[in-house]
Amino acid sequence: MMGIYRPFRFFCRLIMIGLLAGLLANSALSYGGNRDDQKIIIAHRGASGYLPEHTIAAKAMAYAMGADYLEQDLVMTRDDRVIVLHDHHLDQVTDVRDVFPDRARKDGKYYVIDFTLAELEKLSVIERFKISGGQRVPVFKDRFPLGKSKFRIHTFEEEIELVQGLNKSTGRNVGIYPEIKSAAFHRQEGKDISRAVLKILKAYGYAKKSDKVYLQSFEPPELKRIHDDLLPELGMDIKLVQLLWPADDSEWVKKKGSIKGIAQYADGIGPKMSMIVRKDSTVGNIQTTGLVSRAHRAGLVVHPYTFRMESSEIPAYAKNYTDLLNIFLFQIGVDGVFTDFTDKTVNFLKTHRK
Ligand code: G3P
Ligand code: CA
Repeated sequence: MMGIYRPFRFFCRLIMIGLLAGLLANSALSYGGNRDDQKIIIAHRGASGYLPEHTIAAKAMAYAMGADYLEQDLVMTRDDRVIVLHDHHLDQVTDVRDVFPDRARKDGKYYVIDFTLAELEKLSVIERFKISGGQRVPVFKDRFPLGKSKFRIHTFEEEIELVQGLNKSTGRNVGIYPEIKSAAFHRQEGKDISRAVLKILKAYGYAKKSDKVYLQSFEPPELKRIHDDLLPELGMDIKLVQLLWPADDSEWVKKKGSIKGIAQYADGIGPKMSMIVRKDSTVGNIQTTGLVSRAHRAGLVVHPYTFRMESSEIPAYAKNYTDLLNIFLFQIGVDGVFTDFTDKTVNFLKTHRK
């Protein structure tokens, strides 16, 4: 009798453990996303709410504020160096017009790819601006003042060395989140930016899925090429994120199969916020597009952009920045956010973690 009873009791225990594990897993995912302590804060262009974007100062500040990952937008110079800058032209964040007045192309723009690194290092980086009436006007009027202090353009390698240096000196393990900008444009100009970026990543020890890097691109054919050709060729296998832009709605969002297609080559998606919450949402009545659920079902993480404190950047359906974060991170359950305000987002997560 005892001989039958013991295995039965063991079997019952196994079922109980299984049920309990299932319940715990379900409660952790009850809002459809990652466990709270796995949600990541990506410093969008560094602490760009406080210092000129993509400067070393902005990256050090974001690191100190507690970001999980620092973002790098990447473009290439004439002498094949990879630098950290959002645009493949220099017009809106540097004094290039003053330093090299004769180097614009026919369209009036100053292209990074027309300058060597040594030339670019002569420029000052300025808080993002537009030209209005012949004057520089800040894009965000309450951010760092235009033209104050001194900031420089730096290479991708220099930024990785900053992050890895801080990881050593602080004992933390903050990741990097590089974006290959304008791969098609670089190809037209005779440069393979994806290959150059991957070689740098490999040289600095980012080669496996478990390494703290997500590589992102807005160009599906380029990300697929990275997955299918470049990573195997270089003996690498890192996490890839397909960025999505609202104009892609018809192809990538409305078609249910498109998410499954992305899941064939990527580990996550980076949609604009407006692709997740519908325009007809109001305070207390959030209508989603279903994109996050579809992505999660396909095994993709979801890291939307860009969370900003300015009132002009808070959609009408959110009461304030805290409410916006709560909607995305806890009601909808995204797995991380790109933010210009790392400190406010870190504080929010500390307060709201369950
Ligand atoms: O890469 C995520 C987000 O940064 C995309 O927007 O234009 O700031 O690169 P953008
Ligand atoms: Ca970016």
